Amino acid sequence: MSAAAMSRRALLGAGAALAAATVVTPEQAFARAANAGDWTLGFADLEADLPASAMTRVSGRAPADLKGVLYRNGPGKFRRPGGSVTHWFDGDGLMRRFAVEDGRATVTARFADTNKRRVETAANAMIMPGFGTPARAGAPIGSNDDVNAANTSVMARGGKVWALWEGGSALDLDPVTLETRGGFVTLRPDLKAMPFSAHPRYEPDGRIWNFGLQGSRAVIWRLSATGALEAAQIIELPRSSYFHDFTATERHLIVVLQPWMRGERRVLPISRGLEWKPEEGTRVLVIEKDDLTKRREFDLPAFSFFHLGDAWTEADGTIRFDVCATEDPSFGVDSAADLLVGKLDRSPPARLARIALHPDGRGVFERSDTVAEFPKSDPRFAGKARNLTFHTWGDPSRSGKTPLSQGVASSNHRTGQVDHYDFGLRHLVEEPIFTPRPGSSAEGDGWLLATSINLDARATELHVFDARRISRGPLATWRAPVVLPATFHGDFAAV
Ligand SMILES: [Fe+2]
Repeated sequence: MSAAAMSRRALLGAGAALAAATVVTPEQAFARAANAGDWTLGFADLEADLPASAMTRVSGRAPADLKGVLYRNGPGKFRRPGGSVTHWFDGDGLMRRFAVEDGRATVTARFADTNKRRVETAANAMIMPGFGTPARAGAPIGSNDDVNAANTSVMARGGKVWALWEGGSALDLDPVTLETRGGFVTLRPDLKAMPFSAHPRYEPDGRIWNFGLQGSRAVIWRLSATGALEAAQIIELPRSSYFHDFTATERHLIVVLQPWMRGERRVLPISRGLEWKPEEGTRVLVIEKDDLTKRREFDLPAFSFFHLGDAWTEADGTIRFDVCATEDPSFGVDSAADLLVGKLDRSPPARLARIALHPDGRGVFERSDTVAEFPKSDPRFAGKARNLTFHTWGDPSRSGKTPLSQGVASSNHRTGQVDHYDFGLRHLVEEPIFTPRPGSSAEGDGWLLATSINLDARATELHVFDARRISRGPLATWRAPVVLPATFHGDFAAV
């Protein structure tokens, strides 16, 4: 064969491959990957609500005094025939309700009835923009809440259940049926549709603080323990960083401004309009709760993050908190998009790091080796000195083999001890939530509730741990009759 013929054949071959590649839809690519490795169960579509269903107890025995409801939120539908979302963060909000009483558990799941879901159901296509999904032609967008997916978190306080997103209002749901009850919550008429983020902070007495990010400004919300608005104020930020979470001590709100910032050009979706500028470092803003104009700033090295732990002030004035930090924002930009087409990236997992803000103005950032996400603490110690952070746990050697965590753990800041339980690679483990044992007062005296997707059973499971003896494994495990897609965040309402 002549060189010319060979190159013509290669060219034809390349053309054929290109033609084949262009007809593979994301849905087909996902289906192929699902056959190759079923971690994709966590990112598959749920087509219908799940009515209240008994869960099967598969092991152990639940503590007799554990009574309450674990609400969990996360995206549950990503794909429609006329077009799909292109990022994990942008699927339709699906609220789950795990009710535990008398050693039994039930599960309910219902999609949030948002404007976005109605428009997209009618269009038979995902057309609305999101964190990582561009708008399609004809997307009718009048306000933040027109594109609100209500898919990220949940606040179950004062008898209310609000589904939370980060770019718009909370959505009011029925606490039992999960039906969308009161629509989007307007806390103050002149702030209608201003963001009420997915990460409220709760003081031990129940008072609620939250923020809503709008470019280089943020609204700071303060609500009573029952969810009534006490105050709302807009503050200016020194840079237009993206942040998904903030933290607080008893006296301060703490905003961590990572160098992942809105660029010069307004580009949609959000993730594509952000630029990573590590040379600018991370800046921390410490704001007095009593006077939002009083603030201090600290400089830290560059890191990226989604989630912070509760903060506290030590006797010498040093402020401390933890963060699940990554070297850069590649998970949020690329990896979380690739999950929907069945592709596992090798972006390094987040690891627990500790931050100290000293009275002399020095900021110290100290990484640990512990693979961790979703840092939570005993709510009785929120804003106060504490030792324990609860979080998901992962084996660093499994990076690139599974998209999510494989276990749960507590990290003790004083002793350095990590008490962990490993479910292994056949579970996708979700954020653990601590709830105190009734009548107790010591930090960590209570239970850790965690859900996971059991890939062998093809079912969602609910696990209860003794929070001070996590490595002994679950006290009890229940299995749902179905698998529900992976969630982000939850809240526990004791009854
Ligand atoms: Fe979050």
